[in-house]
Amino acid sequence: MKKCIHLLLLLSLPLFIDAQWGGGEANPDLKPNAEMLNKWQDLKFGLFVHWGPVSLRGTEIGWSRGTKVPIEEYDNLYKEFNPVLFDAETWVSMIKAAGMKYMIITSKHHDGFCIWDSEFTDHDIMSSPFKRDILKELSDECKRQGVLFGTYHSIADWHHPHYTTRYGGDPRPVEESDMKLYVDYLKNQVKELIVRYDTDIMWFDGEWEEAWTHEYGMDLYEYIRGMKNDILINNRIDKGRQGMMGMTSSSKYAGDFCTPEQEIGAFHPDIPWESCITICTQWAWKPNDDMKSLKECIQTLARTAGGGGNLLLNVGPMLDGRIEQRQIDRLEEMGFWLETNGESIYGTRGGPFKPAEWMVSTHKERRIFVHLFSLPGKELVLPGLNKTKILTVKYLNGNDLTFKQTKENVIINLPEEPVDTINTVIALELNKEAATLEPMEVVQIPEGMKEINHTAAMETEK
Ligand code: GLC
Repeated sequence: MKKCIHLLLLLSLPLFIDAQWGGGEANPDLKPNAEMLNKWQDLKFGLFVHWGPVSLRGTEIGWSRGTKVPIEEYDNLYKEFNPVLFDAETWVSMIKAAGMKYMIITSKHHDGFCIWDSEFTDHDIMSSPFKRDILKELSDECKRQGVLFGTYHSIADWHHPHYTTRYGGDPRPVEESDMKLYVDYLKNQVKELIVRYDTDIMWFDGEWEEAWTHEYGMDLYEYIRGMKNDILINNRIDKGRQGMMGMTSSSKYAGDFCTPEQEIGAFHPDIPWESCITICTQWAWKPNDDMKSLKECIQTLARTAGGGGNLLLNVGPMLDGRIEQRQIDRLEEMGFWLETNGESIYGTRGGPFKPAEWMVSTHKERRIFVHLFSLPGKELVLPGLNKTKILTVKYLNGNDLTFKQTKENVIINLPEEPVDTINTVIALELNKEAATLEPMEVVQIPEGMKEINHTAAMETEK
């Protein structure tokens, strides 16, 4: 029986992968690297870092160039950028303590400044007083500590003379720019990131600008995969992302995974996606920025996993190279929660119960994990699971719970008080693989809770 299931899973794998985008319409045979994609989906939780000389002003990276900080001033900030307290080992240890499994850092944001030693520009870290290759130190340290290393690389470059979209009142005439030269520059730098820093994820951004085309996107995708086959590339390499919800809907476009921004992706366990969300409100460091509570952070992680996605939680380091202590503490608290509840997050996929305001579910092998953000009353009522039998129900880290399973539903008896006020995880042990269950709507709606619209995000074109 077990063999049979494995065979079925194997047979269904190529079909699943076929539904993915990969190289877009120009490269119909170039699919995402399935093994790497799967491995990355298992990791579930990563750190996003937005950093650069702009931390000297505390304004938003890229966007404040020419708007809040005059262009001339912004472009010269690097001359003062000297983050002497930067320590790759401290950062990566923080990532590990948070229970995060990968990191993505801004190699270059829309402002064009490069935090590595690039052969192709002087607008880089080697021209700053710091003169240390930040990317190299981080990439080495990530590899040393077993953290997957990736780079956010902006396609938009408002500083480069040949990039053809202007921003922030930049007076340079567009006619003097040659986008082809810029694309060469972009490709050369991407090659550096891959060859010299061995980046495993190319996380592009800025693709929405007029300067960038669908053709450029597909070409860049092919170029990158030709250099490193098992790299992952987000959907912002091309034009298909569909706004902030970030869900590419057609294989016309290149990209391996979707990128909802500042929101939790909708329920799409069949599609690889990752929500990027800031721990405070700004991507780059801002003094006294509002920080999310532990409850919001943990529930955001669980909701993302429950919808089938990853969470890329962003911090903005300070001008001296440190990350704010309160942010380090918050991440550590998440790590503490994950130490005892990680089983219900890592290596899981979303569902089979569709997310509700008060609960989500994840599954792995023969277990379903129900994450309760508040108790629905004395009984938790779940759909009936067809012919799949529930063997036991228990708190992830504790006692068994009594339950009754009928054709129509499963009723689990709950105590008066939640065991964890942020997220009480209940594990259902089944007699077969949970992945064989179709997604199901939870009908119970506790008083004062709203229903969630699951179909809002996208209609997949097959
Ligand atoms: C946006 C912004 C940018 C940020 C990114 C992260 O598209 O342009 O500042 O880096 O989102 O997703």
